[in-house]
Amino acid sequence: MPAQRFGNRRDYYYSRGKLGSDPLYPGVLAALLPARGALLDIGCGLGLLAHVLRQADQQRPYLGVDIDADKIARARRAAARAALAETRFDTLDASATLPAHHGSVALLDVLQYLPAEAQAGLLQAAAARVAPGGRLVIRTTLADNSGRDRTTRITDMLAHLVGWMGTRPRHYPDAASVRAPLEAAGLQPQMTPLYGNTPFNNWLVCAERAAAG
Ligand SMILES: C[S@@+](CC[C@H](N)C(=O)[O-])C[C@H]1O[C@@H](n2cnc3c(N)ncnc32)[C@H](O)[C@@H]1O
Repeated sequence: MPAQRFGNRRDYYYSRGKLGSDPLYPGVLAALLPARGALLDIGCGLGLLAHVLRQADQQRPYLGVDIDADKIARARRAAARAALAETRFDTLDASATLPAHHGSVALLDVLQYLPAEAQAGLLQAAAARVAPGGRLVIRTTLADNSGRDRTTRITDMLAHLVGWMGTRPRHYPDAASVRAPLEAAGLQPQMTPLYGNTPFNNWLVCAERAAAG
């Protein structure tokens, strides 16, 4: 919550609404709890995941990166206000580069904003940063020509047209194109629906690297 009554409370109410109604965070949290290592959150937005992890008493170091410098500035302010320890944010185009990292990785609702070739490169780079016992946890919509798939595409396009999402989706990945680079990098992906109460085609991909020994 911003300190001043007339501060920008849009992020606060957006975050409360998202945390209260979105099946993303409980599902992602359950997938991340057993995962080892520091967390790299690619396309972190306002850094909501960092707050959710701290609420669950997860003390692991967190680095959130996003291409949107304004969101990163707002994420830093919210993390400072909540006194989140070992939490950092950087502005970065994840389709061009990722920071050095060895641990676990989150990629939540980001893939569809990248072109197909960039998705494959990002999945490879993210998988390479998963340590033994670590996990790459992805939430993504999947192209499967279902009714949910169509509903997701129409809603994404409307969200862009009315200015709710600044960027428009570039490419919806199918299950095979998500699975292949992860398996090639030695991870074991499992895909489960994460529909919750929504009409959207959301999936949770939990890809683990077997612990050494
Ligand atoms: C739908 S939001 C999801 C935010 C956050 N992961 C969450 O679940 O609340 C998608 C995010 O991906 C970011 N993004 C899109 N393309 C990116 C890129 N090439 N590199 C880094 N971030 C990117 C956007 O700026 C946006 O914050």
